[in-house]
Formats: sequence, structure tokens, C-alpha cells
Amino acid sequence: MVRSGVGDTVGMGERSASEARAAGVHLPWVLAPPRVRAWAGSLGRVLGARDASGGFSPGCCAVLELAGGRSVFVKAVGTELNEQSPDIHRQEGRIAAALPRLAQLPRLVDTYDDGDWVALAFEAVEGAMPRHPWEDGELRAVLENLARVHEALTPCPLDDAPVASERERRLLDGWHTLAGMGRPPAGLDGWFVRHLDRLCELEERAWDAVAGETLIHGDLRADNMLIDGTTTVFVDWPHASRGTPLRDLIGWAPSVALEGGPDPETLLARYRPAAGGGGPRGGHGARGRPGRVLRPARPAAVARRAPDAARVPGRAGPCDGGLAAAAHRVALSTAPGRTFQQ
Ligand SMILES: Nc1ncnc2c1ncn2[C@@H]1O[C@H](COP(=O)(O)OP(=O)(O)O)[C@@H](O)[C@H]1O
Ligand SMILES: [Mg+2]
Repeated sequence: MVRSGVGDTVGMGERSASEARAAGVHLPWVLAPPRVRAWAGSLGRVLGARDASGGFSPGCCAVLELAGGRSVFVKAVGTELNEQSPDIHRQEGRIAAALPRLAQLPRLVDTYDDGDWVALAFEAVEGAMPRHPWEDGELRAVLENLARVHEALTPCPLDDAPVASERERRLLDGWHTLAGMGRPPAGLDGWFVRHLDRLCELEERAWDAVAGETLIHGDLRADNMLIDGTTTVFVDWPHASRGTPLRDLIGWAPSVALEGGPDPETLLARYRPAAGGGGPRGGHGARGRPGRVLRPARPAAVARRAPDAARVPGRAGPCDGGLAAAAHRVALSTAPGRTFQQ
């Protein structure tokens, strides 16, 4: 039986209110258009549906119990809920179809697309979302499972997968956007104006730094993980791209810190790439030497390298030092009750 993340109350009795997590609002399965429910019925007679509570897409996310004891997880969305969401589901369907069979990866069963509504059916996963605050053993197991996934997805199994560097260039371009405005927006601290060139330079380095040969998830978060014993299944792959596994860690790290887990540097240091899969360039070191394992820059080394000019106002720490330091700053700047002052 599916324990949590799924269902009105299924499994939630095991968690306290303080463990409640951010989640979007899904359309209940009963409100899915009849044609979509009819498609689900073609997979097997539907005996019951439990709406999922995790995730952020506006459509339905539900586990359907089918006659014969099988369960499928179905997500469905139409343009009336969000114009872009059907395309995101289409992309997820393409990626999911290319994923190898692995215990840690979702298994696509069927897809539905009428040009408006798009639905995906997966084998239902028997698992629970990670506990918050993060437990050490659970986090270690998730990291091991993640390394296994990165190994299995190197080299990237999808020829036409989006390229992480290009995706990053489109999505993480805030300093360049500011620079392109001509005049700084009112209220922007003068420090940022003075150091905009340097910040743009760092932003560009981040685009290059995510290059790699692994199909990476691109949206790792607790609500995209289901833990079943020692196995973690990583679900929800529409944002996958060809890049470095490190990008998955960097993207995930701030939320782990916010959820009571270790800080980004510690998280990154705990990730042990599996041989052949977890290095920044498909198991090889940054210079392509086999066996060279990527390590996040250590804070002390970072501090030595960082030019004073690149210090964020009010923070003693440096503004350089690569992705690990960047993740750390994101966590600090987004942690509730914390400002950039340390
Ligand atoms: N194959 C599955 N089996 C059971 N539950 C799942 C499965 N895939 C996802 N879920 C649960 O449903 C939630 C929403 O699914 P997800 O694919 O992440 O949707 P969204 O696109 O809304 O984020 C997840 O947080 C997870 O708890
Ligand atoms: Mg999700």
C-alpha cells in the first residue's frame, strides 16, 4: 500500500503537523474529464483512486487501484488549468519512455494525448516521501540511490535530451537580465550595481559548470522522491537534461538545508559518485582523468581564492568558490528568518 505523498489521509497519520511540507493543489481525480478517466479505465477496471498530496502541477495526480491488484499512478493536465502544463507532461512522457529499467526510476505504463489534455500512467510506487527533518540514515540512502541513478544514466540515454548548459542559460540569467536593463531598478543595493560585471561572469561560469554527459533530473526535491525500504525512487522527470550530476545536488541542496538537513557543503561532500556515473563529466574528473572525484570547494580554500571585490555586503564569506558555495548562499538567503547578514 502506498504510504504517504499519496492519498487524502493515507500514511499521513505517521507524520506530525510540523512535518507538513510545501505542496501545490492538484485537481481531484474525480474532476478529470470523462475521456481521460475512460483512458485510465482502459488500463484496467478502476476500483478506487487516491489523490496525491505532493507536487506542484495543477492537474490530477492520483494512484488508481485496478482490478487484479495492480496500481498505477496517473497524472493528467489540460490547457484550461495551465497553458504550459500539457507540454511539460509531454516532455515528461518522452523522458520517462527513455529511462532504463531500474528500481530507482519510474516505469511508464501508458500515455494519453488528445491535443489538449495529456496524461501519463506509471507503475505505482510503494513508498513515502523522505522524513523531515531529514534523518541521517535516510539521507545517506537517498544519496546512494541518486549515485546509482546517475551511473545508470551515463552516458545520457536520450539523444535529443535538452542540454543543461543551455537550459541554465535560459533559466538562470538574473544578473544578465539586470545588466541588460540599462538602469538599475530602484532600491537595488549599490554593491550589486558596482559588482554586476563580476556577477555576470560568475553566472556564465555556472552555465559552463553544469555541462556533462549524464541525464540529470533537474528538479530534485523531497516531493520528487519516494522511499521504499532501502530504495529511493526519483519521480517527475520533465526537467531532465544532459549535464553533470553535480547540478542535481546543487539544485536540491538548498531545500535539504531548509528541511532540517545538512548544509550544502556537507551534502555535496557526502555524495559519492558511483564508478562510471557520478563524476562531473560522466565519471571522469573535470580534466577527463578517470577516477578523479569531484569535491566541492572547501570553505577555507574558497576564502583564500575569493577576491575582496566579490564579497556580498553584510556577509563575511566570499562570493566565489564554485557551485558549492553558490548553493550555500542560496540556502542562506532563502532560509526563513535569515537575511544576508550572518
Ligand atoms: N509512480 C508513483 N507512484 C506513487 N506515487 C507517486 C508516483 N509518482 C509520483 N507520486 C507521488 O505523487 C506526487 C506528485 O507527483 P509528481 O510526478 O511529482 O507530480 P508534479 O508534476 O505535480 O510535481 C509526488 O510528490 C509523489 O508523492
Ligand atoms: Mg513533482
